[in-house]
Amino acid sequence: MNMTDNDTSWPRKTREFQNHHFDSTIWNDFQFRDNDVIISTYAKSGTTWVQQIVSQLLFNGEEGLEVAAMSPWLDLRVPPKEIKLPEVEAQQHRRFIKTHLPVDALVFSPLAKYIYIGRDGRDVVWSMYHHHSSANEEWYNALNLTPGLVGPPIEKPVDSIKQYFLDWMDKDGYPFWPFWENVRSWWEIRELPNMLMLHFAKLKEDMPREIRRIADLLGISINDSVFDKIVDHCSFAYMKNHATKSVPLGGAFWDGGATTFINKGINGRWRDILSTAENARYEQMALDQLGKACAHWLASGNYIET
Ligand code: A3P
Repeated sequence: MNMTDNDTSWPRKTREFQNHHFDSTIWNDFQFRDNDVIISTYAKSGTTWVQQIVSQLLFNGEEGLEVAAMSPWLDLRVPPKEIKLPEVEAQQHRRFIKTHLPVDALVFSPLAKYIYIGRDGRDVVWSMYHHHSSANEEWYNALNLTPGLVGPPIEKPVDSIKQYFLDWMDKDGYPFWPFWENVRSWWEIRELPNMLMLHFAKLKEDMPREIRRIADLLGISINDSVFDKIVDHCSFAYMKNHATKSVPLGGAFWDGGATTFINKGINGRWRDILSTAENARYEQMALDQLGKACAHWLASGNYIET
């Protein structure tokens, strides 16, 4: 972080990130507008949920919004940037864009508002395993056969979820992308004035409170008469029932369609499957990689004194 503007140090892009999913170079040509909203997670951490919340805040609780189409994953390499950028440029509404990159692989702008959502790595992997093992041939074709693939293709997941988790730990995010650097990079900039940290567990604990925090960041004063409607439209049940609107491509990439993506919406499914030693290993790795305060936050959404 070395770009100084009004006494704030803004993060700088220092590298590109390209793999079966990513093309970070799109950020180099992206023209920011005042008040763009950037929604960021490692993956499987409540991105779609927060996109829904932001859409509800921007559009006053309106139903039937094509949220997935309105809020593209900018650094996904499909469709390519030559198609995606003009679409984003043509948007007239306040833009809300999804990313899964670490901070140093995107262009960070003081003009935009940033929301990062954390989730315990074990919950992320449990969600990711379902996402990956329900993916259909079209998903593999899009990621592996579309021109521009950098690095190895993504392969089918192993049969055992426990083995999938152990591989993810041993090979830092395999077969998706590194986890710890993603969390660490966003945690490090949590105090920037245009930045809000959310946590999946906190969203579950008290969604109305978290919606108000998001509204504050975005400078939106919520109309009290529609607040209950907004909360309802962001509930798990509503989102599952209307999943084709919020899930990428209406769920065309997954067996079972969009409702597969909005799967269970609960944490802790790993508790009965991982052994005490496996949990201890994960927790030690989180401490080593993130430090005590960030590891504690990632596990719970709570802050501790350092
Ligand atoms: P599970 O797979 O654990 O069910 P992302 O959008 O980042 O890919 O995250 C997907 C996860 O968020 C899935 O978790 C999905 O069920 C959960 N999710 C989406 N909308 C939700 C909601 N309104 N309430 C609770 N969980 C939700």
